Amino acid sequence: MNSNKKLLRIIAASFLLAVGKISSGAAVPATIDIDVNKPGAAIPPTFYGLMTEEINHSYDGGLFAELIQNRTFQDPLPPIAGSHPPQHVSADPPIHWTIVQDDGGKATMATDRSDPVNAALPISLRLNLDGRRAGLANDGYWGIPVRPDTTYTASFYAKSGGGLAGPLTAAIILDDGGTSVAHADTQPITDRWQKYTVTLTTGNDVVSTAKARFALFAQGSGSVSLSFVSLFPPTYMDTPGGLRPDLMKLMADMHPAFIRLPGGNYLEGNSLADRFNWKQMIGPADQRPGHMGCWGYRSSDGFGLPQYLLWCKQLNAEPVLAVFAGYALNGQHVDAGPMLQPYVDEALEEIEYVSGPADSEWGKRRAADGFTEPFALHYVEVGNEDWFDRSKSYDGRFTQFFDAIRSKYPQLKIIATAPVTSRRPDLYDDHYYRSPRQMAFDWRHYDNSDQPVADTFHGGHHDKRFDRTGPGIFVGEWASQEGKPTPDLNAALADAAWLMGLEQDADLVQLESYAPLLVNVSPEDKARGYPRAWAWSTNLIGYDAMTAFGSPGYYVQAMFGQNKGDVVLPASVTAVPMPASTEPSPNTGKMGIPLFASASYVSATHEVIVKVVNFGNIPVDATFDLRGTGDIAATGTAIVLTGSPRDINTVDQPEKVSPKEEPIADAGATFHRALAAHSLTLLRLTATVR
Ligand code: AHR
Repeated sequence: MNSNKKLLRIIAASFLLAVGKISSGAAVPATIDIDVNKPGAAIPPTFYGLMTEEINHSYDGGLFAELIQNRTFQDPLPPIAGSHPPQHVSADPPIHWTIVQDDGGKATMATDRSDPVNAALPISLRLNLDGRRAGLANDGYWGIPVRPDTTYTASFYAKSGGGLAGPLTAAIILDDGGTSVAHADTQPITDRWQKYTVTLTTGNDVVSTAKARFALFAQGSGSVSLSFVSLFPPTYMDTPGGLRPDLMKLMADMHPAFIRLPGGNYLEGNSLADRFNWKQMIGPADQRPGHMGCWGYRSSDGFGLPQYLLWCKQLNAEPVLAVFAGYALNGQHVDAGPMLQPYVDEALEEIEYVSGPADSEWGKRRAADGFTEPFALHYVEVGNEDWFDRSKSYDGRFTQFFDAIRSKYPQLKIIATAPVTSRRPDLYDDHYYRSPRQMAFDWRHYDNSDQPVADTFHGGHHDKRFDRTGPGIFVGEWASQEGKPTPDLNAALADAAWLMGLEQDADLVQLESYAPLLVNVSPEDKARGYPRAWAWSTNLIGYDAMTAFGSPGYYVQAMFGQNKGDVVLPASVTAVPMPASTEPSPNTGKMGIPLFASASYVSATHEVIVKVVNFGNIPVDATFDLRGTGDIAATGTAIVLTGSPRDINTVDQPEKVSPKEEPIADAGATFHRALAAHSLTLLRLTATVR
């Protein structure tokens, strides 16, 4: 369309909107121009990634498929209300464990520290029997998921006392009073610690439910002691001790290029003693002591460094390794110098564990953990959000890590988390947690250094961030925060605009990852005194014991991951100012141009990928002008995510907001398309470049 005509159409619409003649429901015109023959920044293969830490029961009670909560009886009581950082007192009897016995039974339980299986399992739990059948039951992570025709693997250490003989029965029992839906017997147990493994299979008539527990029963007089009680359902790719299939499937659909592991506060820990101490998280699971996490609960560390690598391997994603840098959340830190050196050495060894040959000292340990092949590693991050360190020790700490890593691994790109002056990092890690409005309207944050700094959670090196000759940028944590515990559509659309902006500034922004990734959405259980499972307000993928779901924000990321171009194409929007999506902010109702467009090209398939966010509450009649094309196919594909701005997905409605795909039959150098209010539209078109 010629540009005068376009302008006239838009001026007319502007007038009608101003005098109230365009009501919600009626479409306003806009044009989207794309220059197919003017390629811009190359989009790096590191777009897009995942950021992860043990928060919201991401691993224990989440991705790690283990079903027994408090399997080593060391978990403390939930934090004391109002304590900050959270304070815990130990629990005896252990939380999540109860006695199961018919009415009138007098069996008791007691913890015992006198005869541990090994140093990593200091506590065992003893069931004292009264001659009758009794058991110890675990209620799992907000329930044990029962499904028909399913085989579970149970394992535990057990020994008898007081002359008790006979087998133990492992069973999954319903909360209806104890109906067993699967059970298996061990060999008769002895008076010495021994590991037992049994499989339990449910019948095909079993009804799916999470209202169930796992129990170990004995019969007779005397006692039975237990340690390290574990129960696994089927796992992703049938890997023993592996990962939860529904979550892995959701993440596989995102096509992530990397996993930032472990990111966030979890790396730092509440104190130096509770840092991410990777050496305590490798090797056999029953040799890992576990540690207190920083998000209100203890981590079993069953999900340790080998499980992070398994995750990478099974998703075909590369690790971006974050190494502990000598600073903990309570402010404890180790200044640069000899005292810091052991931490620097640990980081070098960790790099070797991940990427060294199988005959190196730590590569051997990785091979023993199941991974003979070294992992490709290109990025190492030193610390997390070290701008919180008021002692200003980061510059020195970073320098010591930087020099050691650069000297041993010159090929690695080193990421700093706060401003440093003594060395030039390869990248800075910036974090943004903001309202949808802030996020969407700042979508070209890295484009223009004249923009005001409106962020709320930023690492703080404002003077340098737009410098194309300086360090690159890793936007290692970001989210539009609206919707609890998972984002609503409004937030997802702002995410989409933000991600489109990052993509367009890919000459500077090399990697990005939304945070947090995972959330167990299980509510508080007042009757049992358990807190809700989640700590952080807005998270990408939700789940309870039975069901996993992607939030609208998840679908944005999956759409982007599945439709990635190699090079940015210039795209511009001409549209009338109109109201942005409603949101509870003082700015509501302000007029803007809440239409965001970007484009990229896939050379191998000659495809133009166009993304448009209509963040407004009025539909748009868009004219697409593709300039500089040779042959252009009339057919293509449109993928649309839309709904009401406050719509969310839940375990009961997991796909309420999800993308719909439809064929396009009328594409060309110029074509029209309606863009629904509150929508993300992704077009895949085939066109050669003129
Ligand atoms: O993503 C949640 C937290 O936000 C991370 O642990 C921390 O890095 C940031 O402050």
